[in-house]
Amino acid sequence: MMGINSLKPCISIAVNLFKFSIKIIIVFFASYYFSRLSLSIYIRLTNRFYFSTLTTSYTARSLQYKYIEQYLTKMANTIDKVIKCRAAVAWEPSKPLTLEVIEVAPPKTHEVRIKITAFALCHTDAYTLNGLDPEGIFPCILGHEGAGIVESVGADVTEFNSGDHVIPLYIPQCRECKFCKSPKTNVCNKIRATQGKGVLPDGTSRFMCNGKTLYHFMGCSTFSEYTVVADISLVKIDPTASLDKVCLLGCGVSTGYGAALNTAKVQPKSTCAIWGLGTVGLAVAFGCKTAGASRIIGIDINPIKFETAKRFGFTEFFNPKQYNKPIQDILIELTDGGLDYTFECVGNVESMRAALESCHKGWGISVIVGVAPAGHEISTRPFQLITGRTWKDEFITHTLPFDQINDGFKLMHAGNWFVFISTYNYLFMINNILIYFSVI
Ligand SMILES: NC(=O)c1ccc[n+]([C@@H]2O[C@H](COP(=O)([O-])OP(=O)(O)OC[C@H]3O[C@@H](n4cnc5c(N)ncnc54)[C@H](O)[C@@H]3O)[C@@H](O)[C@H]2O)c1
Ligand SMILES: [Zn+2]
Ligand SMILES: [Zn+2]
Repeated sequence: MMGINSLKPCISIAVNLFKFSIKIIIVFFASYYFSRLSLSIYIRLTNRFYFSTLTTSYTARSLQYKYIEQYLTKMANTIDKVIKCRAAVAWEPSKPLTLEVIEVAPPKTHEVRIKITAFALCHTDAYTLNGLDPEGIFPCILGHEGAGIVESVGADVTEFNSGDHVIPLYIPQCRECKFCKSPKTNVCNKIRATQGKGVLPDGTSRFMCNGKTLYHFMGCSTFSEYTVVADISLVKIDPTASLDKVCLLGCGVSTGYGAALNTAKVQPKSTCAIWGLGTVGLAVAFGCKTAGASRIIGIDINPIKFETAKRFGFTEFFNPKQYNKPIQDILIELTDGGLDYTFECVGNVESMRAALESCHKGWGISVIVGVAPAGHEISTRPFQLITGRTWKDEFITHTLPFDQINDGFKLMHAGNWFVFISTYNYLFMINNILIYFSVI
């Protein structure tokens, strides 16, 4: 009896502990299922993808796939029908975009209709919105960086099916024209004429709003929940890639990275300088670093950019405003005669000149990636070119500085934000369309 009595407190503690653990387990599972349920109800009610917020846990990921399955079933009901959805419409130049319900017609021959799940902003969109683009046609749906899921395909489309994850391309690849066949460039001109007129290759638009035709933009028009593009203006991607991040590959990142590796063909141990530490400039630095450059100098008038830019491979920085002589003179002294490669990623004719003149005599290559405002002209002394420097202009047809797609453009324009892939991504809801920025 004595033995049992002395054990009683221990048994009672054990029982209480057991009860407590059961409670903890119940609470854990209850909150787990409640969060799943509420998230799933939320998604069903709002009919929206929130990939970046959803990808933070396994539960969320499985929900994401579950929703994609449901979404594909739903898409089957929209095939061959006009889809009503939201889009940010540019009715006229220099006016903020307005969120409208638009009609998106089914894709015709060699066309693909896509559900856009994420997009990013680029200066090109603002350039056109500001009325600076000679090819800008209004009303239109801007946007050319995006990613999404194929909803349906038109006749004779062989490379895409409903459910494929894709990125629209503003420079297509027909694989037939002389540009596509040449190893020297990728500037396909198959649909250039119609793309520049804001229509699809058959000469018509798939967008309508309040009885008015809306024009396409750069063959992409990603500021819409649904868009239609030519099948040559699309690339299929790995379905496990986060659509909210890879959308940036549609323009800025690939432009900068390609400028270093394909246009300039940066060599190992070479010296490089990059004007402008925005998305494009950072991607150029990343390309130079990948190519094995020994020195990557960043030049920007906003020194706030320097700290973050270090992560992309820059080895040193200069703010031209802090010197009372031209930056090219400083760089030439610093690098014993000039740099092997320079890249202008600002869109300013003065920095284009500085970039060229900072190149080493005899072999220096200067690549212009930034786009200067219409009417601005670059000048330099012809001697600069006679003495062996090469000026390369990355083919750019539309881009220039931007101003605003409402709050999103304002944030980017403040200069403290990069649109880029980063572990410090911040999510913003702008007109109910997802836009990603990373804070510096
Ligand atoms: N070739 C293409 O296909 C393509 C694609 C995207 C963007 N672009 C062009 O590339 C340029 C850069 O684009 P982004 O998105 O990186 O822009 P961004 O605004 O994010 O970056 C520009 C950077 O340049 C800096 N800057 C401004 N004036 C300067 C000066 N005088 N000297 C040095 N630095 C200066 C700014 O502080 C900023 O950090 C733009 O002209 C854009 O239109 C071209
Ligand atoms: Zn082609
Ligand atoms: Zn762009």
